[in-house]
Amino acid sequence: MSALIEVRDIGKSYGNILALRGVNATVNAGEVTCVLGDNGAGKSTFIKILAGFHQQTSGQYLVEGQPVKFVSPRDALDKGIATVYQDLAMIPLMSIWRNFFMGAELTKGSKPFRRLDVSQAKKTVVEEMSKMGIDIRDPEQPVGTLSGGERQSVAIARAVYFGAKVLILDEPTSALGVKQSGVVLKYIVEARNRGLGVIFITHNPQHAYPVGDRFVILNRGQGLGNFAKGEITIDELSQLMAGGAELKELQAELEQAIAATGVNDRAAP
Ligand SMILES: Nc1ncnc2c1ncn2[C@@H]1O[C@H](COP(=O)(O)OP(=O)(O)O)[C@@H](O)[C@H]1O
Ligand SMILES: [Mg+2]
Repeated sequence: MSALIEVRDIGKSYGNILALRGVNATVNAGEVTCVLGDNGAGKSTFIKILAGFHQQTSGQYLVEGQPVKFVSPRDALDKGIATVYQDLAMIPLMSIWRNFFMGAELTKGSKPFRRLDVSQAKKTVVEEMSKMGIDIRDPEQPVGTLSGGERQSVAIARAVYFGAKVLILDEPTSALGVKQSGVVLKYIVEARNRGLGVIFITHNPQHAYPVGDRFVILNRGQGLGNFAKGEITIDELSQLMAGGAELKELQAELEQAIAATGVNDRAAP
């Protein structure tokens, strides 16, 4: 069986700027592929290619074994590749259920909504959210009253309901505290358990490692590998992300700086 997504040696230039090079990645159904890298590493550029906002300038992009070249996000969505952005496309004062169905016109084929049956729509939202482990008592509640983690979960549930095969999440935990991040990580696992291929973008190896099956590491636009979980430890992952040699240098400099301050010189007890 082919992978849902396979990316081979992809590169992207913006004019003279080479933003991405040598990126390889695999996304399988029922797995989480994490894309890791520091700020500016090229993570957003990479997923914008997967999501159809940009085209690669080199390399191959295959969906279920077929080479694709998307010219718009609509093309990607038609192949079941849905993206949840950090600044969610939601209207805070609008109800949860209206936000949930707002994207409906963007989907094709899966579950057409010929007539908007309001009570059915509300019931569906409550059911779908409950499948994700969230208890929505009042679907009329404005989406803006939900926590950041819960809003992410509405967006995830919506993508799942409208038939996404691949769910791309761009830094869903970066603006959240520890507890809310935990909530989002739980939905990532939930979506994976329901058979989706999840692409989870983060700069935090602590968030990635527990939920990830595969790890794609970017450093300054360069792909540094596509590892299965058994092939890499969390420490190796962090080192690669930061660029191993640079990190060692930084560590040595820090140690020198700390030694110079004398803060670690303690008198014997
Ligand atoms: N539209 C663009 N035009 C020119 N350069 C861009 C554009 N988008 C991103 N870049 C450059 O590509 C690099 C990677 O950015 P980005 O993909 O946003 O990284 P990340 O999401 O990992 O923080 C950055 O150096 C950025 O300046
Ligand atoms: Mg980004």
